Amino acid sequence: MAVKRKNKNIFVFGIFAVDISFYIDKKVKPGETIIAKGSNIGPGGKASNQAISARKLGGNTTLITRLGNDNFNSYANTVWSKEKLSISAKIDRTLPTGMAGIFIDDKTGENSVIVHPGASAQLSISDFNSQKSKMQKGDIFLTQFEQSSDTTFSVLKEARKLGMITIFNPAPFGKINKKVYQSCEIITPNETEAEQITNISLKGKRDVEKAINKIRDLGVEKVIITLGKKGAAFFDGQRISFCPGNNFGKVIDTTGAGDCFNGALASALSFGKDLRQSVEFSCAAAGLSVLKKGTAQSSPTRVELNKVIKAT
Ligand code: RIB
Repeated sequence: MAVKRKNKNIFVFGIFAVDISFYIDKKVKPGETIIAKGSNIGPGGKASNQAISARKLGGNTTLITRLGNDNFNSYANTVWSKEKLSISAKIDRTLPTGMAGIFIDDKTGENSVIVHPGASAQLSISDFNSQKSKMQKGDIFLTQFEQSSDTTFSVLKEARKLGMITIFNPAPFGKINKKVYQSCEIITPNETEAEQITNISLKGKRDVEKAINKIRDLGVEKVIITLGKKGAAFFDGQRISFCPGNNFGKVIDTTGAGDCFNGALASALSFGKDLRQSVEFSCAAAGLSVLKKGTAQSSPTRVELNKVIKAT
């Protein structure tokens, strides 16, 4: 009789922000005021979005972050407790909770984001260490690039030392310490970030393959480049493959689709899926997230995802 594999735990490290989004039909010029077509307030911050996505899909997830001592703090806790996320969120008495202003093209769903990490800018290795006793070999550790680069490097290095599967989502792009690449088992840039890392312009499949190989040369074991509606390309340690995107309906808001992908990836890996299965699972989750407004609000539940996976 096959022994059922116990799911691994997921630790997501990074920022929480309150997202204030505006749906607009033209760009705002300096000195101009425009009337938005719609608006939305919701939970954001790449780490919190990714943790919520992983949790909604059934992953046993802990978010490590920081909050300010303000009203957004209680908002964050309400959202997280509804999702039954495990939380480590130190309170900063001087800095505010993170905030983001998001502009979404009303026709295409494409977005531009300005984020102020606030209290989370102070995240440090001490926040990681506070949860270290719960981390085990084989658990999943996921972080992004919205906290300082020194902290990002230290936490990835420590997680790797513990034998965790380390995933680095290099978003937003910034100068990456070369040693970071050796500390991440999997890196997940989007097209733009992959171009910035490699200086290769991704016009077609050949360019994507070249970029993956250039990132491997930096010392990363496995590479996933997310390609928006075109899906994702990945190197699983053996070969480069492409996973096509999904078209589940009209795109409303692409904000947070990358976060949904990364959370889903952590979740799938924690269930013991291999990289190919995990990328397919994550492409489907991200494909569903763009059908709704918001970032964490739009990431699908396991039940919603199962419906489309069965249908395809
Ligand atoms: O990836 C989208 C996220 O980036 C938003 O939720 C915003 O808060 C920023 O962190």
